[in-house]
Amino acid sequence: MDKILIVGPASQILGFKIAQELGLEALNTETKLFPDGENYLRINIEDETIITGKEVIIVQSTGPSSSRTQNARIMELFMMIDSVKRIGAAKITVVVPYLAYARQDDRFRPGESNFAEILIQLLNSLGIDELFAVDVHSPSTLKNCSCKAINIDSMKLLADYIRSKGAIDIIVVSPDKGAQERSRIFATHFGDNVPVEVFEKKRDLKTGEITMSGSLSLKDRDVVIADDIIATGGTMSKAIKLAKQSGARKIFAVTTHALLLQQAKFRILKAGADEIIGTDSIDNEVSKVSLAKIIADYLR
Ligand code: R5P
Repeated sequence: MDKILIVGPASQILGFKIAQELGLEALNTETKLFPDGENYLRINIEDETIITGKEVIIVQSTGPSSSRTQNARIMELFMMIDSVKRIGAAKITVVVPYLAYARQDDRFRPGESNFAEILIQLLNSLGIDELFAVDVHSPSTLKNCSCKAINIDSMKLLADYIRSKGAIDIIVVSPDKGAQERSRIFATHFGDNVPVEVFEKKRDLKTGEITMSGSLSLKDRDVVIADDIIATGGTMSKAIKLAKQSGARKIFAVTTHALLLQQAKFRILKAGADEIIGTDSIDNEVSKVSLAKIIADYLR
């Protein structure tokens, strides 16, 4: 079946690179905000028959940026899916490199929703055939999709990048127990017996305030602190400070999804990181590791 790829407005570079990897024609979109704040999106085509009967791949991340909120990105994604469905796409494959709301995957306090679950159910209800996302906060969230849904693991790519920077005597530090398993798998990409240590993080569920504790022996080690998301940088900067106090030589702050909200970059560098490294699931100045090839490999 012929394939065509739609580069969503939130994934202009990554989407285009995936199309190049696959040798597919890339279509763009036209978007705007109406005066009342509603989103508008159309696939930028005059002749709909270039989509009819084809397998359509839609690439759209759902992270916030200075121009759009994650809610707007989700609406744009829904609109792209609906549009190609109405045109008569034969198959719809959706790639969401960063899945918003993934951290709201449980009811932590009375009266809360589990919106991660709902978002996947909503996507599923639009009649998509396949869903791919990268390093979802809890990969089991994708089980709420009845269609094929795959969590793509970017850790080997991130580890390759850090190795290329000449890191030696590496120790992987997990900023909390939740990231421990991910950190353990991450460490295997640096070689056999690379140690993994963990800090203790507590977040006040009402205020969101983070406290972190732990004392490790990191003297003369290059420390890699890996988390799935850097949002405000609170978690990462606290972990970096502790690692510095514990004698770390170089510190790499590594994440799949570098949302870098508010003063995150400053906080992380001030805490003592030598480098902040992210993927292009979010398009910004720390997108040093491209997901294009690994995503394309899943789509071939
Ligand atoms: C939490 O469980 C996540 O894995 C990240 O640690 C967290 O979302 C990072 O947020 P922030 O950068 O605001 O501390």
